[in-house]
Amino acid sequence: MPQRPFSQACENNKGPILAVLQQHCQAPGSLLEIGAGTGQHAAWLSAQLPHLHWQPSDVAANLPGIRQWLEEPGSRAQPPLELDLTGDWPAGPYDYLFTANTFHIMAMPLVERCVEQGCARLASNGRFLVYGPFNEDRRFTSDSNRAFDQALKNTDPQRGIRDRQWVADLFEKQGLHQIADHAMPANNRVLVFSRGAADACAVSDR
Ligand SMILES: C[S@@+](CC[C@H](N)C(=O)[O-])C[C@H]1O[C@@H](n2cnc3c(N)ncnc32)[C@H](O)[C@@H]1O
Repeated sequence: MPQRPFSQACENNKGPILAVLQQHCQAPGSLLEIGAGTGQHAAWLSAQLPHLHWQPSDVAANLPGIRQWLEEPGSRAQPPLELDLTGDWPAGPYDYLFTANTFHIMAMPLVERCVEQGCARLASNGRFLVYGPFNEDRRFTSDSNRAFDQALKNTDPQRGIRDRQWVADLFEKQGLHQIADHAMPANNRVLVFSRGAADACAVSDR
C-alpha cells in the first residue's frame, strides 16, 4: 500500500480549527467537508466531534489517501464521497459545510459555484465554515500571504487568495450572512456564514 499523503499544515491548524468548530457546530448534525485533501482533518476532527456525522469529500484521485487516514483509531468520519465541484452534488441537506484551503485553489467561477451549490444544500439553520487565507479590502494581510499568492499564480494564473468581502458577497447572494471571522495561526482565518441573524456577529474576533 502506498504511503499515505501527509500535510504538516493540517497538523498545525487542526487544533485551532477544532476550537472554531466547537463554538459554531454545537448542535448534533451532518457535516459535509469539501476538498478534504489528505483526510487528516476528517480523521482527527471527526474523532473530537462525535456529535457530528462527518462526511469528507474530494475528487476521485484523493479518495484512496483519505481512506488510509480514516483508518486512524478514533476516526468517526464516513467513507469519503467522490465530489468534483464542477459536477453533480449530493442532494443533502447538511447541517454544516466545512472547507479548508480550497477557495484559493479553485478558479473564481468555481468558488462562486461552490457557494451557490453548497448553500442550496444547507439546512435552514445551517452554517458554512471556510478556512484559509483571505485578503482584506483587496490587500494582503501579510508579506507571507503576498508571496503565497504569487506562488499560486505561478502554478495557475486562476488561483489566488480571495478577498474576504468578495466571498461574503457571494454568500449574501444566497441569503447567508457572515456571522464570524476568526483569526487563525499563519495568517489564516475561518469565516462563518449562516442564514441566522447578523447580530450573531458578536462572536467574531474581528
Ligand atoms: C490545498 S488542498 C486543501 C486540502 C485540505 N482541505 C487541507 O486543508 O489540507 C485543495 C483541495 O481542493 C480540492 N479541489 C480542487 N478542485 C476541486 C474540485 N473541482 N472539486 C472538488 N475538490 C477540489 C483538491 O482536490 C484539494 O483536496
